[in-house]
Amino acid sequence: MTQAAQELARTASKAVPYPDSKSHSAELYERALRVMPGGNSRTTVFFPPYPIYAERALGSRVWDVDGIERIDFINNYSSLIHGHNHPKIVEAIVEQAHRLLSISLPTREEVGLAEILTERMPAVDQVRFCNSGTEGVMFTIKAARAFTGRAKIAKVEGAYHGSGDTASVSVNPSSALWGDPETPASVVGAGSGPGTAVDTIVIPMNDVENTRRILRQNAKGLAGVIIDPLVKNLGYVPATAEFVQMLRDETKACGAMLIFDEVYSMRLGFNGAQGALGIKPDLTAMGKIIGGGLPVGAVGGRRDIMTHIAPLGPIYQAGTLSGNPLAVSAGIASSPLVSPLVYPWRLRAASYHCARA
Ligand SMILES: Cc1ncc(COP(=O)(O)O)c(C=O)c1O
Repeated sequence: MTQAAQELARTASKAVPYPDSKSHSAELYERALRVMPGGNSRTTVFFPPYPIYAERALGSRVWDVDGIERIDFINNYSSLIHGHNHPKIVEAIVEQAHRLLSISLPTREEVGLAEILTERMPAVDQVRFCNSGTEGVMFTIKAARAFTGRAKIAKVEGAYHGSGDTASVSVNPSSALWGDPETPASVVGAGSGPGTAVDTIVIPMNDVENTRRILRQNAKGLAGVIIDPLVKNLGYVPATAEFVQMLRDETKACGAMLIFDEVYSMRLGFNGAQGALGIKPDLTAMGKIIGGGLPVGAVGGRRDIMTHIAPLGPIYQAGTLSGNPLAVSAGIASSPLVSPLVYPWRLRAASYHCARA
């Protein structure tokens, strides 16, 4: 037995099996419930009787506060495409932390990551950073509305685009509210503003004819159509090239913006889903893998639209921690780890996933 294996065996022998009311996770949960609803800040990993609290991680493994080792199949929802605590990313973060944690001025690193993204993503001439995929989506929607002077956004029924009002429409509503499958109802999430249902059009995924009809019916007021080319909530069924091409054609014809939410799908290829599909959106929301595992988001797109965003244009977009030096440095360090060389098998893996769904 190697030394590492012996250490693992020792840790495992001391481990308390889940669930155990005397475990450190259970104890932390009790403490957390007093100060946080549900005892944590996430939603999908919450499960009774208590969520597992993490202590450390490396590569594909995570150790909880009770010393139990597990394989992490979630990988922080794909933001850790390179695994936990990759040494090159940790090194870049430590080096950056010694120089500059946070600042209002722009940095060399921010420019560097913007250069990498504009090189990778065919439809991204320019980018602005924010702090999450949710924000990236919100800013693409805001840009589409401001640029077109229209209000309506079309989204796929069941698609998740983060926690914004428009994004929360018809994500996972009760089946009693679904409406006609060919003209899905706009089911607004709790707490969204009163105009959300009127301004959010819901389209059926991969249904070319019915979506075309809905878009044409709303063409006059349509600011944009947002699509995640790999909708995980729909069993990882990818958007068909025919469906996305129809969205491209219809938005172009009525002067609306086509928005790709590539927060999740960007890992489908070195040039994102837009590169894999060969279809260029007007605006792209990004997040997750572009920050090496640190909090990050971005809005990108055509230069003529992006120059309407602050500070050059009237579309206000900013954030105290936007373009944070640690996040962009981690993003730069992670970029060579997802070079074109590693993508052929990842694409095959994605197709395999889709075929099983
Ligand atoms: C397609 C898509 N868009 C947006 C988001 C929101 O990103 P974030 O969780 O960074 O706010 C997610 C998160 O899972 C996503 O999968």
